[in-house]
Amino acid sequence: MNEITIIKPDDWHLHFRDGDMLLETVPATARCFERAIVMPNLVPPVTTADLAVSYRERILAARPEGSAFMPLMTLYLTDKTSVEDIKAAKKAGVVAAKMYPAGATTNSDSGVNSLESLYPVFESLAEHDMLLLIHGEVTQKHIDIFDREKAFIDQHMVKIVERVPNLRVVFEHITTKDAADFVFSAREGVAATITPQHLMLNRNDMLDGGIRPHNYCLPVLKRSTHQEALRAAVKTGSNRFFLGTDSAPHVQHRKESGCGCAGCYSAWSALELYTQVFDELDALDKLEGFASLHGPDFYSLPRNTQTVTLAREAWQVPESIVLPDGEPIVPFFAGKQINWKLK
Ligand code: DOR
Ligand code: ZN
Repeated sequence: MNEITIIKPDDWHLHFRDGDMLLETVPATARCFERAIVMPNLVPPVTTADLAVSYRERILAARPEGSAFMPLMTLYLTDKTSVEDIKAAKKAGVVAAKMYPAGATTNSDSGVNSLESLYPVFESLAEHDMLLLIHGEVTQKHIDIFDREKAFIDQHMVKIVERVPNLRVVFEHITTKDAADFVFSAREGVAATITPQHLMLNRNDMLDGGIRPHNYCLPVLKRSTHQEALRAAVKTGSNRFFLGTDSAPHVQHRKESGCGCAGCYSAWSALELYTQVFDELDALDKLEGFASLHGPDFYSLPRNTQTVTLAREAWQVPESIVLPDGEPIVPFFAGKQINWKLK
């Protein structure tokens, strides 16, 4: 197969950031995605309906001329989030709430310390037909960073899913066989997003022959057996898995640093990289489900009607992109060849 046409995909997990950065990130995503679930980890975070509404306006203003791209907004949960906050968010069109354990990742310091006290909020999300999106890693420093996703499943995920049986839960950017197995065997209403980097790479790609900061993200890349399990999961075509790039830009000097930031800026190549992965798996027939159908079905949103076409054509991801403020950023897969191109 040298060409594939699929219903226009959506990105169910990404980071646009704010300010001038939107003039780079929004067009990059709008080039191939119709909608995107926008992460709320700004500084300060998007903790209220009002903040979500104004952030949405800034994103809409950054769309390219004529673009129909639609951001789908999320609320950042803190220890102080109330049932009233959820009600107001629902009224404002916010579709989901994002739960970061405090300190788990970039801009998560205001995240959740005590999960126990959030159960009324989880109940309220379910009642208002909103989803709970979870960064599934524990933050206990004594737990090895490669084991933190598995520990989160055992300590928290199982409980959340059982205690609020009608809540739709997305286990975001899963990275382990443990998470894939959990999602396969969980009750109805549990799904996961998977990033291009976790399908394409394992921890050797970050650490073998030198530290490669542009492959560093959180949850961190795992060993190849986990990568293989994620690839096997998407190859099944199960509707519990869908596309979420976790595209997360950081300027070059903050990645190439003595203490580099976590995040891969993949918006310019993610769809093509997913296509390449499905091609390698001999599963191009499963790409459309993963990229364009399972997400809207799980979110109870209409499927898109337009299509996009990808062709088998080699191209090279740019080495660097210059942001509107003149700062360079190194995109994910910079300088490397990709075998599929969006037409
Ligand atoms: O690698 C990551 N980058 N993982 C996250 O969870 C957050 C993201 C970011 O905001 O930079
Ligand atoms: Zn993310």
